[in-house]
Amino acid sequence: MTTLRESFDGCRIIITCGPGGIGKTTSAAAMATAIAASEALRVLVLTVDPARRLADALGISGIGNEPQVVPLDGPGELSVAMLDPQSSWDALIRRQAADEETAERILRNVLYQNLTRRFVQSHDYIAMERLHELVTRDAWDLIIVDTPPTRNALDFLDAASRMADFFSSRFLKWIIAPTRSGVAGLATKPLTYIADRILGNQFLTDITEFFVLLNSMYDGFVERAREVESLLQDDTTKFLVVSTPEAIPTREAAFFDGELRKRNLRVGGWLVNRMLPQSLGSESVTTGVAVLAQADLNALATQLAADPSMLSEVRDRMVTLAEQFAILADNEQRMARDLATGPTPVFAAYTAEGEIDTLTGVTNFGRRLLLAERVLKFD
Ligand SMILES: Nc1ncnc2c1ncn2[C@@H]1O[C@H](COP(=O)(O)OP(=O)(O)OP(=O)(O)O)[C@@H](O)[C@H]1O
Ligand SMILES: [Mg+2]
Repeated sequence: MTTLRESFDGCRIIITCGPGGIGKTTSAAAMATAIAASEALRVLVLTVDPARRLADALGISGIGNEPQVVPLDGPGELSVAMLDPQSSWDALIRRQAADEETAERILRNVLYQNLTRRFVQSHDYIAMERLHELVTRDAWDLIIVDTPPTRNALDFLDAASRMADFFSSRFLKWIIAPTRSGVAGLATKPLTYIADRILGNQFLTDITEFFVLLNSMYDGFVERAREVESLLQDDTTKFLVVSTPEAIPTREAAFFDGELRKRNLRVGGWLVNRMLPQSLGSESVTTGVAVLAQADLNALATQLAADPSMLSEVRDRMVTLAEQFAILADNEQRMARDLATGPTPVFAAYTAEGEIDTLTGVTNFGRRLLLAERVLKFD
C-alpha cells in the first residue's frame, strides 16, 4: 500500500494544481510543513495568495517575494515565499536588462506595466521564472509550488514554452525589424503616426519601444523557458492534482490530469480534498443511528424529565441528518474509489474545520496528508 509521501519520494519539485478554491495552497503549505517537521530536508513552499488564516498560522502575513524561514520544531527547515507577480517581473527585468537605464525604461513602459499587472498569463509565466530562479539558488532540497487559480490550467503549463516560441518568432522580428537602428526613428514613420492617432497617443510607439528595449534579453528568455520545460519534465518533478469530491471540480481535475499525462509530465497523485469523514459512513454510526431510531422515548423522557413528543422530534431529526450524512460520505468514498480506476494514485483528505489556523494544526493536517494511503479501486 503506497502512502502519498511514498508516491512523491525523492522529488525535488512538487507542484499542486487543479481547479480554483479546492485547497491547492493549503495542501502545498501543509505538506511542506509536515515534511520539514519530520525529515531532515530544507523545504521551500512557494505560495500564491494564501488565505489569511493560513498566512497567520505560518506567521507570514505581509511577507513579500523573498523566502523566509518559518521557525519549526523538527529535523528539517521550512521556508515560505509568496508569489508577487509584479515585483517578480520587476526584479527579473532588473536582473536581466543590459544596463540600469534600459531596465528603468522598460519598467516605465506603459505596455510593460499593463502586461505584467493585468495580463493573467503573465502571472503564469512569472511563476515559472520564479521557480527557475529559486531552483538555481540551490538552497533547498524540495520546493513545493502552489499554482495560481487559472481559468485555464493549461496556460500555466504552457507558459514557458509559449514564451520561448514568442521570443524566437518571426512575428517579433517583424515588429522590431524597422527599428533595429533605434527607437527614435520609429515615431516619424507615417504608419506609426496614424496608429497612434487611432489607438491613442503613444500606443504603437510604446509597443515597439518595449520590444526593442527587451531585445538584448530575448535569448535569456528563450534559454530559461527551455530550462523550465526540462525542469518540469525531470524525473524528480511531480504534480499533485487536487480536487474536491464534487462533480465539477472532479471533471476539471480529470481534464488537467489527462493534459499533464499527454505532455509526459509525472503525476504523483490526485488528492480528493475536503471529504466527509470516512467514519460517518462506518458501521458503528449506522448501528448507532438504528439504535437511536428504536429508542424507547418514554424511558428516555423520564430519564431526562422531558416531554416525549419533543424528544421524538429531536430524535427523528438527528436520525435523518445522520442518515443523510452517511449517504453523502458513502457517495464520496465511492467517487474516490471510482477515480482510483484511472492511472493516477488517488488519496483522500478530510475536512479539517478549525484545525488549519495554527502552525500545529497545519502540521498535523500535513502529517495525515503524507500518511494518507492510496484509495483502493472500486470493484
Ligand atoms: N481539508 C480542508 N479542511 C478544511 N478547510 C479546507 C481544507 N482544504 C482547504 N480548506 C479551506 O478552503 C479554502 C480554500 O483553500 P485554498 O486557499 O487552499 O484553495 P486554493 O485551491 O489554493 O484556492 P485558489 O484557487 O483560490 O488559490 C481555504 O479557506 C482553506 O482554509
Ligand atoms: Mg491558492
